[in-house]
Amino acid sequence: MHNKSNKFSITKKSVWSLILQAKYFKANFLDDKSQVSIEKSLNGIKYRFEYDIQEKKVINNNFKIDDYANNLFKLYLPIIFNNKKTYLLGHLAQTLDGFIATQSGESKYISSKENLFHIHALRAISDVIIVGYNTVRLDNPFLTTRLVKGKSPMRIILDKNNKLGKKYNVFTNQDENAYKIINDNLRSSDHNIFQLPMTDNQFDEKDIVSLVTKLNKKVIFIEGGGKTISSFYEKNLLNKLHLCISPIILGKGISSFIIPKKDSLNELIEHKVSYHKMGCDILCDIDLC
Ligand SMILES: NC(=O)c1ccc[n+]([C@@H]2O[C@H](COP(=O)([O-])OP(=O)(O)OC[C@H]3O[C@@H](n4cnc5c(N)ncnc54)[C@H](OP(=O)(O)O)[C@@H]3O)[C@@H](O)[C@H]2O)c1
Repeated sequence: MHNKSNKFSITKKSVWSLILQAKYFKANFLDDKSQVSIEKSLNGIKYRFEYDIQEKKVINNNFKIDDYANNLFKLYLPIIFNNKKTYLLGHLAQTLDGFIATQSGESKYISSKENLFHIHALRAISDVIIVGYNTVRLDNPFLTTRLVKGKSPMRIILDKNNKLGKKYNVFTNQDENAYKIINDNLRSSDHNIFQLPMTDNQFDEKDIVSLVTKLNKKVIFIEGGGKTISSFYEKNLLNKLHLCISPIILGKGISSFIIPKKDSLNELIEHKVSYHKMGCDILCDIDLC
């Protein structure tokens, strides 16, 4: 149905379908263009919009863009149409006092259901999800896209000592698309293993990026926890960080950032940030490099 401005109305579901169409377009057709035209027929209507990749904005559209659609386009299109060979994105949900979980590791759920939807949406537009060992051990997540339409991407867990057994939820999904990266000194005949060398008891995060790049993964979603995100951040490998701040105070817990302390405010770089309301939370959308 057309509204007064002669543009089609669009449902929330159809907005999300257009985002997935943009992801499909980028993966299959994009060839160094500065503007793209995305279209999809939904419920008998051919929805269409043009997107300026440099300006990061929709420049032409045949449907009404309300606050909901505007928010989704601003959040997801810059990630989909990034101009990097590989693009690394992190997300953390933290309390007002900077914790991502209680001291015992309970984190379900620090943030709102709107933020949970957002996490599933980020999974759906990513090519691979990476999480640290503690997140699987303490949180036991599925890391699938079950709350939104869209394919669950490959999942990789950093498990250098190969300690995580098959009982964890991340390995039980029928797509069998969950893998571990383990120390290359260990022997393993499991099919879902990659091996990398270690220095000082750690993988080099750049080796992890090279590994997934060789697998043709372009949008890499580091989904936590704090230690894992911090190590990619410290190596300047993260292009974007989504930090969701929930209006709760824990007092003590597992920290978002485990990085060397800075002694002077002069050394600090102020990052470019935009803010999105998510239920009762605020999401800081931070461009890093
Ligand atoms: N609120 C949120 O957004 C959110 C998101 C995710 C998780 N969580 C919560 O956060 C907690 C876990 O966070 P966390 O900071 O303790 O741990 P984490 O980041 O989940 O896992 C850290 C562990 O992963 C492995 N790892 C990470 N980088 C590595 C590297 N470069 N090389 C080798 N191994 C590497 C190490 O395992 P080893 O022990 O083998 O050295 C490291 O100790 C859980 O309670 C979880 O529920 C919250």
